[in-house]
Amino acid sequence: MPSSGEPTTLASGHVAVPLETEDMKRIYRNFPTFTDGASRLYPGRWLLLTGFKDVADRIYNFKIRESDVVIATFPKSGTTWSQEVVWSMLHDPDLKDAPRSPLMDRPPYLEMEVDQWPAEVKSFVPPLFHAMCPGGDASRGTVVQMLEVEKEPRVIKTHLPLSLLPPDTLDKAKVVYVARNPKDLVTSFYDYSRTQKRLQFQGSLEEFADYFMRDELRFCPYWEHLREAWQKRNHPNLHFIFFEDLKKDSVREYRKLDEFLGSRLSEEQLARVMEHTSFSSMKARDEALGKCDQIISEGSFFRSGQAGSWKQKLSPDLENKIDTWTKENVADFGSDFKYFIS
Ligand code: PPS
Repeated sequence: MPSSGEPTTLASGHVAVPLETEDMKRIYRNFPTFTDGASRLYPGRWLLLTGFKDVADRIYNFKIRESDVVIATFPKSGTTWSQEVVWSMLHDPDLKDAPRSPLMDRPPYLEMEVDQWPAEVKSFVPPLFHAMCPGGDASRGTVVQMLEVEKEPRVIKTHLPLSLLPPDTLDKAKVVYVARNPKDLVTSFYDYSRTQKRLQFQGSLEEFADYFMRDELRFCPYWEHLREAWQKRNHPNLHFIFFEDLKKDSVREYRKLDEFLGSRLSEEQLARVMEHTSFSSMKARDEALGKCDQIISEGSFFRSGQAGSWKQKLSPDLENKIDTWTKENVADFGSDFKYFIS
C-alpha cells in the first residue's frame, strides 16, 4: 500500500497531495483492486489517482483547436450518450458509416492513461495507438499523440473538471457539459462500480453513497465539478445539458445541441441521429461501442438509462441524506438550477 508522499506542484498551479494512509486504508477496504493510491489536488480538493500528477501537465499543455468539441462530465452523467450524439451529428448524420468503431477508439478519453488500475495495467497502451501513431513513443503520452492525428472536428471526452483542462479550452473550443441528478448518478455509479472488472466495489449502496458525499470517489467533489460549469453556463462556447431534459424533451435538446455545434442537420438527419442514439439502439450496440468488455457477467453498462429510477433503489433514509447534502451545496447555484432544493 502506498504511503503518503511529497506534494507535487503542477503546471496548472494545483498542488497534488497524496491522501493520508488512513484515508487510503478506508477506501481500499471496499475497492480491493484500488491499490495505486490517490491524491487530492488543491485548490478544488479534486480526488484523482496518484498517477494523475505524471500526466497532468501533458493534459494542461495539450493544444486545443478551434474545431474541437469537448464532452465534459462527472462520471455516469450521460457521457457516452452525448458522445455518440455529438459524434454522429458532426461526422455521420446520415449514418452511412454506422455502426462505427468503439467510442474509445474515437479516440480514448483525455485522462485515460491514469484512469487504469490496478497498478499492473498502468502501462496500458490503447490498442489503436501504434496504428494511429506509427513509431510513436508511448512514454510521451498515448492519448495526446492519438488526438494529434485524429480527424477534425475532434470529439474529446473527459471527466476532469474544467479547471484541470487546458486553460484556453473555453476560449477556443466548444464544451458540452452534461449534468445528472445525483440520486440517479449514484445508483448508476454504484452498479457500474460493482460490476466493472477493474473496480469490483464490495460495499452496499449506502456505503458507496457515503464515499460520494464525502468526496472520496475519483473526480469528486461532485458539486464543485458542476459549479465550475454552471458558472459558465452563459459562456457562448459552453452548452450545459441536464440528462433529465435530454430524456424528457429529446427533440428540443437535440435541436439545441445541433444549433450549438453548428452542424445544421435536416429534420431527417435529426430523426435518424435520435433513433441511432436512443437508449435501446445504443444498448443493442453495446459490443460495437466497446462498453461491455469490462463488465463482469452480472451487469450491463446500459443499465436503465432512466431519469428517476433512483426511486426504486434508494431507502428513504438515503434519499433524505442526499437531499440534505444537495441543499447544503447548491445554495449559490440559484433556483434555475434543476437540482436546487431551498
Ligand atoms: S461513464 O462511464 O462515466 O462514461 O458513464 P456515462 O456514459 O456518463 O453514464 C452512463 C449512464 O448513461 C446511460 N445511457 C443512456 N441513457 C439514455 N439514453 C442513452 N442513449 C444512453 N446511453 C447511456 C447508461 O445507461 C448509464 O445510466 P444507468 O442509469 O446506469 O442506466
